Amino acid sequence: MSEEEKRTALQKTEEELRRCEACPLRRDCLAPVGGFGAADTPLVLVGEGPGGVEDDYGCPLIGPSGQLLDKALWAVGITRDRIYTTNVIKCRPLNNRTPDIAEAAFCGARFLEKELAVIRPKIIVALGSVALHYFGGSDLRILRDRGQWFLTAGGYPCIATYHPAYLLRLTGKELVQAKWDVFHDLQAALAKAKEAEPAYVFKSEAKINLFDLCKKRERT
Ligand code: URA
Repeated sequence: MSEEEKRTALQKTEEELRRCEACPLRRDCLAPVGGFGAADTPLVLVGEGPGGVEDDYGCPLIGPSGQLLDKALWAVGITRDRIYTTNVIKCRPLNNRTPDIAEAAFCGARFLEKELAVIRPKIIVALGSVALHYFGGSDLRILRDRGQWFLTAGGYPCIATYHPAYLLRLTGKELVQAKWDVFHDLQAALAKAKEAEPAYVFKSEAKINLFDLCKKRERT
């Protein structure tokens, strides 16, 4: 598929997502939140599910977690417009509850898998436990298994790292260590993605402010 065909296919999935009422999570959020970024990228980052700011703006990882993620990405040489960022779950669970494995499997099969089938990334980064369990199975543990490569059921090389929201809860030495871990995991993901597509540009010259690109939305 050409870049344009991929973009069109992602838009179609996004339209389907907007109409989705297939599970009860839809009742508690403003509207589903799809993905953001480049359709022809070799690198896809997958988070857990939208939080409050993401629900308000219809953009994944735009709130406090997303701001921290952007800093880490910039440090390794990546901007969000040059990769694709999305979530396993597309609707914000009430009170930011962590989605369970069945909810992740249900929503992931309906939408995340379609996004991946269009983009066909060379590398996936799973952000946190929900994405790690979705791609690697519920036996994996983020504290033990982050930074280790495995193949997803769909055949994508995947590495997990800490979710930025976890970093936001840490302090002191633990925080410093976890930030380095994330830095190294993202560096490893970028190196492998560059190996797969040496000509691809992963970093735009200027920093990207998602709030300039996404508008606050009303209930639909
Ligand atoms: N946490 C996530 O995993 N994804 C978001 O989009 C926001 C917070």
